[in-house]
Amino acid sequence: MMSFPAISFRICLLTGFLASFALEPLRASRFFNLFSPDLFVQFNIQLTAEGEIRYSVYADKKTLIKQGKMGFHLLGQAPLEKGFRWLSIDTSSVDERWEPHWGEERQLRKRCSRMVVQFEQTATGKRLDLECMVFNDGVGFRYHFPSSGRHEAFILADELTSFPVTGDHDAFWIPGDYDTNEYAYALTPLSKVHAAKEVWPHGIGFRSPVSDSTVQTPLTMRTPDGMWLSIHEAALVNYPAMQLDIDRKELGLKAHLVPDGLGNKAYLRLGDHTPWRVLLIARRASELLTNRIILHLNEDPPETDCSWFKPGKYLGIWWEMHLGTHSWAGPRSEGDSLALPHGATTGSMLRLIDFAAANGFSYVLAEGWNRGWEHGDGGWSERKFSFTEAYPDVDLPRISEYAKDKGVGLMMHHETYGAVTDYERQLPAALDLMEKLGYKGVKTGYVGRIVPRGEHHDGQWMVNHYLHLAQFTALRKFFLVSHESVRPTGLHRSYPNWFSCEAARGNEFNAWSAGNPPEHETILPFTRLLGGPMDYTPGIFPVAAGSGDSLALRRVHTTLCKQLALYVTLYSPLQMAGGKLEDYESHPGPFQFIRDVPTDWDSTVVLDAMPGDFVYTARRKRGSGDWYVGMITDELARKYPLRLDFLEPGRKYVARMYADAPDAHWQTRPMAYKITEQTVDARDVLNIRLAPGGGCAISLKAEE
Ligand code: NOJ
Ligand code: CA
Repeated sequence: MMSFPAISFRICLLTGFLASFALEPLRASRFFNLFSPDLFVQFNIQLTAEGEIRYSVYADKKTLIKQGKMGFHLLGQAPLEKGFRWLSIDTSSVDERWEPHWGEERQLRKRCSRMVVQFEQTATGKRLDLECMVFNDGVGFRYHFPSSGRHEAFILADELTSFPVTGDHDAFWIPGDYDTNEYAYALTPLSKVHAAKEVWPHGIGFRSPVSDSTVQTPLTMRTPDGMWLSIHEAALVNYPAMQLDIDRKELGLKAHLVPDGLGNKAYLRLGDHTPWRVLLIARRASELLTNRIILHLNEDPPETDCSWFKPGKYLGIWWEMHLGTHSWAGPRSEGDSLALPHGATTGSMLRLIDFAAANGFSYVLAEGWNRGWEHGDGGWSERKFSFTEAYPDVDLPRISEYAKDKGVGLMMHHETYGAVTDYERQLPAALDLMEKLGYKGVKTGYVGRIVPRGEHHDGQWMVNHYLHLAQFTALRKFFLVSHESVRPTGLHRSYPNWFSCEAARGNEFNAWSAGNPPEHETILPFTRLLGGPMDYTPGIFPVAAGSGDSLALRRVHTTLCKQLALYVTLYSPLQMAGGKLEDYESHPGPFQFIRDVPTDWDSTVVLDAMPGDFVYTARRKRGSGDWYVGMITDELARKYPLRLDFLEPGRKYVARMYADAPDAHWQTRPMAYKITEQTVDARDVLNIRLAPGGGCAISLKAEE
C-alpha cells in the first residue's frame, strides 16, 4: 500500500488499548486503519501528499471502496478539499445493548470500533472532523464542522464524498429525483445505468429524473465476487438527502445533494454535523435484511416515556378512491351533486369503525373528510386544503364519540398537495382539533410540487419540515405516518411516534397505473426498507375486476396469499389492511390472517432472500411465543422446504397455512388459495410451493 510509517489500530484493538493520538509520529504518517471488532471490515483513512482526505473500505481483505474523496465546496469560501493536516485521532470501542420502543427485535447490540479524527486546513486554520464507526457488517462516517465557540453560518455548495467501488457491480436502482422515490427498480451493472432514458410508468405528475446517471439511495449492489453492499445514510437531520452520481467509466459514485431553488445544498453553522454516510456489507444477501447499523447510528428518543405510541393495524376509506369508484371531494354544501359518491361520509366512517372494532383493528383512517379536494391538485398554488373544516356530510364529533365507544383510535388525514407553508400555518389549529376530538395519529401527504416554490421534497427545507412535524406530533402524543416524504434514515429510533413513511412505490400504483411488477416487493426490503418501515398498504384482495388486460393491470400484481405474506416480509409497526370491507367480508378465511398478524416483534429470522427473486421471513410476536412466516416470490413459481427449526424446541404449535392453490397464478388465478391447519414442532419441515407472483403466509400459535 503506502511506504509511510503507519500506526495500526489493529494492534491497539488486539491489546485492548484505546488511545488519543495527538502525536508527532501521527503527523508524519499518511494513513490510519480502524478495524471492526471481528477484524472483518477495515476502514482506512489517509492524507495525500496535497493534504486531501481519502478513505478506503475493505472486507474479507477485499477492497470495496478505493480512495474515496472527502470534503466540501463552500459558497464564497475556499473549499474544504485539500491542505489538511492531522490534529488528533481518538479511538474507542463500543459495546452496548439497547431496546427499541417497537421493532423487528426486542433488543439490539451495538458493537463497533469508533474514532474521531480532527483535521485542520493549514492555510485557513479551519477544522473538519470525521467521526467513524466500523461494525462487523459495515461502516458509518460523518463530518463535523467544529465551532470552537464561534457559530458562523456557511453555505454548502457541494459535498465531495465519493464511493469509488472496485468493479462493475450489479445494482438495484431507481433514478435520481429530487421529489419522489415512487419508481419501480431496475437491475443493471453500474456501467449500464441510464436513469433518464428509462421509461417509467407514470401516474403522478411531478417526476423529474435528475440526470441520466444519478440514482437514489439505498443503492444496493452485488460485487462480481458475490459480496453485497448498500450505500445509504443515517440520521438525516437539517441536511438534504444524498443521491449518487455514477461515473460509468471509472465506476465511481459521488454524493449528489438535493439542492434548493438557488442551487445551494445546505445552510449550516459551525458546530453542525452531516448525516452519517453508511456502507452496509454482507456476505449473503439475506444478511442485509437484519443489518441494524442505520438504527445504531441514530440517537435514542429524547423523551423516554413513549408508551402512548402503540403499533397496530388500520383500516381506511382509501382504496375506493384509488380505484375511482368514490371521491375524496365531498359536497360544498348539503345536497350538492357530485360526479362520484363521496367516500368519507359519516355513514361510511361509522361502518368502518364497527368493522375495525369487530376485527381487532386499532385505528381507522378517513381520507377526504376536509374541504379543499374539490379544487384538484391546484398546480403550484399557495393554499389548497383546510385542515379544520369538514365537508357537510362528515360529522366529526359524532364520529369521534362513536370511535371512542367502540375502542377504536382515529387517524387524521392531512394531504397538503405540496402547499407546506400553508400547512405549517394551519398546523397548531389542526393539532388542536385532533386533540379535542381524541385522534391518535395523523397521515400526511405531499403529492405535487412544494411551496415554498423552488424547494424539493428531499431538500434541506423539507427534511426539516418532516422532522419538525415528527417533533410537534410527539409532543402532542400523536403518531405520524408520512407519504411522499423523504425516504427514511433510521430516525424512527429517535422519534418512535413516526411509525412509517411511504417514500417508495406503494401498493396504490396497482390501482391506477401499470402497477408494480411481481418482483417489486422482493426488492423493497433490500433497498428502501433498509432505512426504515414502509406504509406499503398491503392486504388488497385481487378479486377479479375485469378481464384480459384490465384484469392484469388495474389490480395488484400478486396472488391473494402474497398480499397476506407482505405483512411479514415488509416490516412496519403500523400496517394498513388496504382492501375493501366487502372483499374481507366475502373472504373470511384469508382475512383471518390479517386479523391475527401482529405488527411488533421480538425477533426476526430471514430464512432466505434474494432481491428481485424471493424473500422468506419468520418473526416472533412481541411478548409471545407465536411465530408468523411470510414468503413471497417474483413472477416465477418456487418450491422451498421450510424448516421450522426457528421454533422453540420441544414445543407444539398450531400451524395455519395460507398457501397458493396448485393452479394459482398472479395473472390468471390470483384468488386460488388453500388454507390448512396442522400441529407442528421445531423438527418439522413444510414443503412450500409459491405460484408465479405468489406467496405463503403461516401463523404458528404456541400451545401452552
Ligand atoms: C398519495 C398517498 O400515497 C395516498 O396514500 C393517498 O391516498 C393520496 N396521496 C391522497 O392523499
Ligand atoms: Ca404516494
